[in-house]
Amino acid sequence: MRFLLGGVVVVVILVIVGVGFALLGFFPTNANSTPPRFEQQIATAALDASMERRAPRLNNPIPPTDENLIEGLKIYTMNCALCHGGLDRQPSVLGKSLYPPSPSLILDPLDDPEWHVFYAVRTGVRYTGMPSWEKVLSEGVAAPSEGESGHEHHDHANHK
Ligand code: HEC
Repeated sequence: MRFLLGGVVVVVILVIVGVGFALLGFFPTNANSTPPRFEQQIATAALDASMERRAPRLNNPIPPTDENLIEGLKIYTMNCALCHGGLDRQPSVLGKSLYPPSPSLILDPLDDPEWHVFYAVRTGVRYTGMPSWEKVLSEGVAAPSEGESGHEHHDHANHK
């Protein structure tokens, strides 16, 4: 019992010291530095574990037809290339200026399962520059929503 109480006191003190440090301005807020290796490893492992626990195991409902692939290419170029690199196969300078930097998806494609990628795109990645796309791209991820851009709009709901 005493041991437990001691543990609780230590945890409370650590939290107070941590919040105090933050409020006194000891933690950096700049994004123009590289995350240390331990931070990268812990954050990546935590992200994978969280997705493993929360993400529904969905398969892509959109068949990889030529038309859909071309549509996907356009959506990627308009919305994602800015941070993840475009078809010129150059890393995005803006993407590399985020903390953590965005992965170069064209140069170094992901090998994660579809459900993982879908969840990351739909819900975003908290505390990083990766936005949630569920309100920007319509259900099924493929087509931009009506309000987002006025260009040719194919509704992929038809392909399901
Ligand atoms: C404003 C910059 C930005 C834009 C725009 C952006 N992303 Fe990201 N994205 C990021 C960052 C930063 C990460 C890295 C998050 C991390 O370190 O886990 C990321 C991560 C990802 C991941 C990997 C998640 C994982 O599990 O490792 C995928 C997949 C992804 N983005 C897809 C997209 C797609 C598709 C689009 C366009 C619809 C897009 N992103 C647009 C910044 C962006």
